[in-house]
Amino acid sequence: MPTPKHFLQFKDLTREEFAYLFERTRIIKSRFQGYERYWPLADRTLVMIFEKASTRTRLSFEAGMQQLGGSAIYLNTRDTQLGRGEPVEDAAQVISRMCDAVMIRTFEQEIIERFARNSRVPVINGLTNEYHPCQILADIYTFVEHRGPIQGRTVAWIGDSNNVCNTWLQAAELLDFNVHVSTPPGYEVEPERAGLYGNDHYEQFADPMDAARGADLVTTDVWTSMGFEAENEARSRDFQDWQVDAEMMRIAKSDALFMHCLPAHRGEEVSADVIDGPQSVVWDEAGNRMHTQKALLEYLLLGRVDS
Ligand code: CP
Ligand code: NVA
Repeated sequence: MPTPKHFLQFKDLTREEFAYLFERTRIIKSRFQGYERYWPLADRTLVMIFEKASTRTRLSFEAGMQQLGGSAIYLNTRDTQLGRGEPVEDAAQVISRMCDAVMIRTFEQEIIERFARNSRVPVINGLTNEYHPCQILADIYTFVEHRGPIQGRTVAWIGDSNNVCNTWLQAAELLDFNVHVSTPPGYEVEPERAGLYGNDHYEQFADPMDAARGADLVTTDVWTSMGFEAENEARSRDFQDWQVDAEMMRIAKSDALFMHCLPAHRGEEVSADVIDGPQSVVWDEAGNRMHTQKALLEYLLLGRVDS
């Protein structure tokens, strides 16, 4: 049996594959907007396993599968044998015999890698502690929709060097743009954990204003990610100066966009006037999760199509 193609981290796909996915997204999105029926995944099933909470990821995959003619099944740790210690390898063997693709949101990246090694069908990372590749797929598509090619542009990442940040960094290497990162001391990028080939596509800044200066896109995320709640108090203290506010947006390019993967905490990592202001594209960004993931599902299940 051939090894299925997985999307466990951003660099699992090539630059050419991303170009293809963005073009398919454009076509699939315009069909959706025109109420045009497009059912290439009729009779196909996606199983979604959630070990952490979700609104957007669950909804975008579930609605996306339905719109492509297929169906999606939601599983969580609490209600399955996974929560009672069934080995991930065994779960992968069984689950992948009953569906055409699996999406997993879990803790360590190693868990999803073990699942994928034992899966007969494509596995998609719906967020791990280390990466959130589907998010950056949507974010870059959104940037391109608003501003054109991202190659050569500068993205300012303000805050925690978390799963979303790591994925931006991988994407920068693949798609040839730059990331200016500013984290509080002690929360800096760990290149190995981020899965980077080198350090020529990002620069770290002690002062978040320096990271934002001249940026084409300013983006941030919660101070405390899911799974790290025990650090909440320390992080609330350490991240006080890492808020994207109007002053920071003023130092970026005059037409800079603001993005946030959501859910957001107004008054913490972003001020209300920025996330609700004219430079913010967070609703387009969230909506594009569904369109980009439909293109991803189509590609992983059917390969390149020209319809
Ligand atoms: N951005 C994102 O993945 O949102 P959810 O946690 O709601 O899925
Ligand atoms: N970094 C956040 C993203 C949520 C979509 C988390 O992992 O909780």
